[in-house]
Amino acid sequence: MEYFIAKTFAGLENELFKELHGLGAQNCRKLSRAVSFEGDISMMYRANYFCRTALRVLWRRKAFKFRNNNEFYKNVFDYDASEVLSPDGSLAFHTTASDSIFSTPLYASVLAKDAVCDRFRDAFDRRPDVDRESPDVQFHIHIYKDEAQLFLDSSGESLHRRGYKVRNHPAPINEVTAAALIKMTGWKADCDVIDPMCGGATLLIEAAMSALNIPAGFYRREFGFYRWKNFDRKLWSEIRNEAEIADDVSVNFYGSDIDARYLETARANVRQARLQDFVVLEREKFQHSSPERTPSLVIFNPPYGERLSVDDSASLYREIGDTLKNRYPGCRAFLISSDIDALKHVGLKPSKKWNVMNGSLECQFVGFELFSGDRKSFVIKQKGGK
Ligand SMILES: C[S@@+](CC[C@H](N)C(=O)[O-])C[C@H]1O[C@@H](n2cnc3c(N)ncnc32)[C@H](O)[C@@H]1O
Repeated sequence: MEYFIAKTFAGLENELFKELHGLGAQNCRKLSRAVSFEGDISMMYRANYFCRTALRVLWRRKAFKFRNNNEFYKNVFDYDASEVLSPDGSLAFHTTASDSIFSTPLYASVLAKDAVCDRFRDAFDRRPDVDRESPDVQFHIHIYKDEAQLFLDSSGESLHRRGYKVRNHPAPINEVTAAALIKMTGWKADCDVIDPMCGGATLLIEAAMSALNIPAGFYRREFGFYRWKNFDRKLWSEIRNEAEIADDVSVNFYGSDIDARYLETARANVRQARLQDFVVLEREKFQHSSPERTPSLVIFNPPYGERLSVDDSASLYREIGDTLKNRYPGCRAFLISSDIDALKHVGLKPSKKWNVMNGSLECQFVGFELFSGDRKSFVIKQKGGK
């Protein structure tokens, strides 16, 4: 059994835990912005390919205690990196350290790099080069006090880079956040999904991929382990063949946006994901929209000032509340925003509320049950009364 850590954003650990457990990972444990798990190499491939809520998967190669620079160097030197790296290859180190003897994590990275390279020079008379941009092997070191863990980054580029974004929106939601939010709503591909402020269509693409069982890594060209010496192509192809992608799904995905430029962005991304038969896009102001079918899941991230300028966020969010209440009765609506004050202007009572990160932005994700008439009658009706 090997030990791994899958990283995610703060607030999404629960969803990542459930996903890893569902994929067959053993001894899953929630950490801060990560979940640790155990399994064999096929589990590492599986997590990279199928996990929608992981940013990267790290494989632990060594855990040790050290009291000084020499002991740190010696412990890293003892690890035989030639299992993954050749002397002609390239490497990079990324270190996080807290409460340790190192005044900066960079110093620990340099020491570890020297240890790995010195071992190569002793054995082969040659040593790998450092390449910070695109190394063959990316190491991560986590140091807490006198404890260090040496990991290999099996993902390479962050897993939120799914490979379907060919056009960029100025304020996109992160793909990993989008996938987690959809899971958090409890949606089980049992009703249509509407994103009435869809921008680059991230939420719709993630929802459609999930409904059709398209693996999160399906469109990616590369994973970190592709460049490792011990990359097992046959096993990797077996893992990819585990995907049971559906041809069709009985629900639709509707996206609209007020801005024609962003609809072009959405169209390009949807086409790249080969989802144009499932995702319907049109230009429309949210205030004039209504659902094709009821119930539907409405999920969106309205503009929130940080990246898109909003003239008057209080009135925009008030109009969002009014539109949901008047035009979407019978639906469930979920909003994510970092503008916590503006969210209060929606004027509806949230039935659910979470704190989550969208990339580096702290956000609130809120859910509303939409009904016609007053709340009291709705609650009585839900309880089976008259
Ligand atoms: C934060 S962005 C959404 C980003 C999107 N989730 C993505 O991943 O690319 C908000 C979007 O809302 C759109 N928008 C703003 N006001 C709108 C309105 N009244 N009706 C429809 N769309 C609107 C903007 O044009 C913008 O594309």
